[in-house]
Amino acid sequence: MDAPPEVNQLRTAFRAELERTAGPRDVQDLRDRYLGRKRGRVVALLKTLAGAPPERRRALGQAANALKQEIEAALEARRAAVAEARPPAGAVDVTLPGRAPAPGHRHPLSLIREEIEAIFSAIGFEIVHGPEAEDDYHNFEALNMPAAHPARDMQDTLYLDGAIPPPGGEGRPATLLRTHTSGMQIRYMETHEPPIRIIAPGLVYRRDTPDLTHSPMFQQVEGLLVGETVTMGDLKGTLEHFLRALFDDDTRVAFRPSFFPYTEPSTEVFITCVFCRGGGCAVCKRTGWIEILGAGMVHPAVFEAVGYDAERFTGWAFGVGIDRVAALKYRVDDIRRFYANDLHLLEQFPS
Ligand code: PHE
Repeated sequence: MDAPPEVNQLRTAFRAELERTAGPRDVQDLRDRYLGRKRGRVVALLKTLAGAPPERRRALGQAANALKQEIEAALEARRAAVAEARPPAGAVDVTLPGRAPAPGHRHPLSLIREEIEAIFSAIGFEIVHGPEAEDDYHNFEALNMPAAHPARDMQDTLYLDGAIPPPGGEGRPATLLRTHTSGMQIRYMETHEPPIRIIAPGLVYRRDTPDLTHSPMFQQVEGLLVGETVTMGDLKGTLEHFLRALFDDDTRVAFRPSFFPYTEPSTEVFITCVFCRGGGCAVCKRTGWIEILGAGMVHPAVFEAVGYDAERFTGWAFGVGIDRVAALKYRVDDIRRFYANDLHLLEQFPS
């Protein structure tokens, strides 16, 4: 026998509502509306039984009770299903608006160092690293600066063991904070045979009072190339390529004789002033040129110190200050700002 129409109607309505329940509260709500003792629709239907004609009472009663059980079971199943679908504690609610991440920024000095590394990597140079706490031998002596050499006065050195060696070189060998990356020339040649093509980036230290252009700690990149037929022309060509890649294609490069104990001949290298493009301004002191690095042909005494045959091999080396390059490229007028953790400056660089 078919169920009475009012029971069927109620079943259809219930199923439609059941479909729309999404969480445990919806299910409880639905239960109240159909099975609630006071206002539940099924309960209300059962209450009408008393007034129904006897011949209908039985059929209606059975159908209504069956529907009640059916609804109980359906609600129970639904409750379990939505409970399972609930996200676990701590899960992310993907419907909430997102929070933008605040990544850090590349430090300008890191950007310049990476740029220099990329330029030299592309032409076959290996990137090597060495210790910042260096010994007297690698920082000075093997670079043709024996203990009494006046060139050591050119660099005010921070000694780690507190004792500045007395003139004349008596006493125990000193440990110091390297004053330049040139010691890496020695360290690399001690352990490798030519041909050599390396750059060595890193921190260096000097007893300088900080000002616009000086910091007691700064960064250099050393370059060294050694082979059997290396000439000053190779040095000029390589540095020209390097400086044009680093600054501008139309940067002009000039070489002026200079002196370093570990190179002969030695040169100071200049580029067209980045501010006035060579016209003359306050920064370049009206010369149109800005000094950018020191370089030269490796001194035979240096080859002898590392056991190379100075008759057979020639080479060149250079050292460039990263802070100075960064100051020029990014127009920062005070290199102390690179070490001040100043977010107004740092946030202008890519992350
Ligand atoms: N070491 C020198 C300096 O600190 C730079 C330099 C490196 C010069 C290599 C010649 C050769 O300024």
